[in-house]
Amino acid sequence: MRRKLMIVIAVLGLVVAACGGGGGATETTAAGGAAAAPTQGDPTRGQELFASSCSSCHGADAKGIEGLGKNLVDSDFVAGLSDPDLVAFIKKGRPSSDPANTTGIDMPPKGGNPSLSDQDLFDIVAYIRTLR
Ligand code: HEC
Repeated sequence: MRRKLMIVIAVLGLVVAACGGGGGATETTAAGGAAAAPTQGDPTRGQELFASSCSSCHGADAKGIEGLGKNLVDSDFVAGLSDPDLVAFIKKGRPSSDPANTTGIDMPPKGGNPSLSDQDLFDIVAYIRTLR
C-alpha cells in the first residue's frame, strides 16, 4: 500500500515537471525566436532593400561595380556562408584594414545603412540567393 502511494506520488511529480518544464521551454523558444532571430527572408522585399542600400556599390544586378563593390552573384564567399552567417557578415562589413579585405575598399557595416534590421538583412540575403 505504501509502495503504491510512493509510485503514485512519483508519477504525479513527473507529470507536473514535464508539463511545467515543457510549457516554459516552448514559450521561451517561440518568443525569443520571433523577436531576436529571424531565419527566413522575403526576396521581394529584399530586392527593394538591396536597390536602396547595396546597389550603389554592388550594382543593380549585384554583379559588382569596379572600384566600389564586389560581384555577389559569382562570389564563393557568399555561396559558402549560411544565411545567418551572411547576415552577420553584412552587419559587420569588412573594412580595408581587415586582413581578409580583398580590394582595399571598405565594405561598411550594413552597407552604411544602420537602420537595416536583422529581418531586412535576411530579406536582402534571400534576394541575393535568387540571383545565382
Ligand atoms: C560603399 C560601398 C558598399 C555598399 C553600400 C555595400 N557594400 Fe558590400 N562590399 C563593398 C566592398 C568594397 C566589398 C569588398 C570588400 C573586400 O575588399 O573584401 C564588399 C563586399 C561585400 C560582400 C562580400 C563579397 C565577397 O565575395 O567577399 C558582401 C556579401 C556584401 N558586400 C554585401 C553587401 C550588402 C548586402 C550590402 C547592402 C546592405 C552592401 N554590401 C553594401 C562595398 C559596399
